[in-house]
Amino acid sequence: TTVWVPCDAAAVSVGADEVAVALEAAGATVRRNGSRGMLWAEPLVEVETDDGRVGYPNVSPDDAADVLAGRHESLGVVDDHPWLTGQRRVSFARVGVIDPQDIEGFEAQGGWAGLRRALAMTPAEVVQEVTDSGLRGRGGAGFPAGIKWKTVLEAQADQKFVACNFDEGDSGTFADRMVVEGDPFTLIEGMAIAAYAVGASEGYVYVRSEYPHAITALRRAIETAYTHGFLGRDVLGSGHDFDLHVRVGAGAYICGEESSMLESLEGRRGEVRAKPPIPALKGLFGLPTAVNNVLTLCAVPMVLAEGSEAYAGLGVGRSRGTQVFQLAGNVARGGIVELPMGVTLRELVDDWGGGTLTGRPVRAVQVGGPLGAYVHPDRFDVQMGYEELAEIEAMLGHGGVVVFDDTVDMARMARFAFEFCALESCGKCTPCRIGAVRGKETLDHVIAGRDVSRNLTLVDDLCTTMTKGSLCAMGGLTPMPVRSAMRHWPEDFDRSQLEGA
Ligand code: NAI
Ligand code: SF4
Repeated sequence: TTVWVPCDAAAVSVGADEVAVALEAAGATVRRNGSRGMLWAEPLVEVETDDGRVGYPNVSPDDAADVLAGRHESLGVVDDHPWLTGQRRVSFARVGVIDPQDIEGFEAQGGWAGLRRALAMTPAEVVQEVTDSGLRGRGGAGFPAGIKWKTVLEAQADQKFVACNFDEGDSGTFADRMVVEGDPFTLIEGMAIAAYAVGASEGYVYVRSEYPHAITALRRAIETAYTHGFLGRDVLGSGHDFDLHVRVGAGAYICGEESSMLESLEGRRGEVRAKPPIPALKGLFGLPTAVNNVLTLCAVPMVLAEGSEAYAGLGVGRSRGTQVFQLAGNVARGGIVELPMGVTLRELVDDWGGGTLTGRPVRAVQVGGPLGAYVHPDRFDVQMGYEELAEIEAMLGHGGVVVFDDTVDMARMARFAFEFCALESCGKCTPCRIGAVRGKETLDHVIAGRDVSRNLTLVDDLCTTMTKGSLCAMGGLTPMPVRSAMRHWPEDFDRSQLEGA
């Protein structure tokens, strides 16, 4: 019997490696895949049958014999499971399906088609295709990827770079990690297309040191891609050379900000650079550089393989294509859900997430990482898109959705935002370096009930200063969670309101 056991870090953290050993000892042929993103079912073992791969959730080593005999609780054929059939997987199409290191398996499932088509086009045509698709930066800012690439393509320089931001520092996000652990060739293909499009002969992946499994998976896949002619000299006989390197960070959130990341790549301390100049014109080593997030680059192969119209046909408003949502926090079914932009937050939290894990009512959802707004259940009908979220003073960010039940204290969450900023600030500008510390202190007074209304006014003033005066999004966005908490849960900040009520 052939069985599939995920080698994804999330699955391994709940015992997938031990399960693999036990299944092998019980006589199965074990293959390793990435995670399907159904983290609530990990370790999810799949047994090959004539009907397809039958999934067995939450398997422990002791269950090995039962799984092989079909006696364990089953999800049926995994590909037919509503959690997967209801999604529209683009970047994650192969994650959990293939062996991440199997380059033939990757190709058999549509891999390299995008790169092959791109290499038959001119670089300007590739850039146009990406522009027409409407693909926007999935790191969080949502800047049109095609416009960024056009800037790099048209910049005059002997040497240009592509750089992949794989620093994924947002709490509650893990999509970059899962796609690279589960299907590293998709990122390699996306980067090879980007390099050809902008005229770069060298690329860097900047990955956080907290992701050892992803680093190993990516390095192995890059080696294989070299031996098969997808990287290196004269990629697939196109005349285009492309070398790809992996660089490991050292654990600073700010290195996810693109200019700090470039500083770190150059071997310096990760500190934000003043913009302009933008990296597209003066980036790595002062040369034009296309900096893109993992998820942006992983959408590119499909855009090229199936054409811009197919991608642009998905989505809502100016947010085209799909978003990989990451359900985390106090949620019954945490994991990865890739859907066209425009799904409502309510659908994500209730239908996909199944509400809270504790079974208590949802009180707040933080969307878009630690700098994103806390969204009140009154607004859960918001559609997930850049402009749609901006209308309710929230942001999509990197697609993180972190759920809290009614035991959460929103004043403490606001304080946490300042505390996080104080810890992670690079210290270059005053509003962020000093503001975050003062914000935390002032909220401590509020929480202790000291001079509450005056201190809340001070916090609000401070938020304005940080929003307007910070050099980068770290200090500039910290007020977003703070203000959203103050606005929608005022009773948590001013206990007298509660007592008076
Ligand atoms: P930004 O709006 O300054 O820039 C977005 C991108 O567009 C950058 O790459 C910039 O260089 C580029 N760009 C701007 N104008 C351009 C032009 N005329 N031509 C070519 N390229 C141009 O936003 P920033 O500061 O890079 O990112 C902020 C976002 O990062 C936030 O909205 C937040 O959602 C997100 N974020 C993501 C995290 C993660 O872990 N993925 C962590 C923290 C924040
Ligand atoms: Fe550094 Fe904070 Fe200023 Fe950004 S806002 S440059 S992290 S001090």
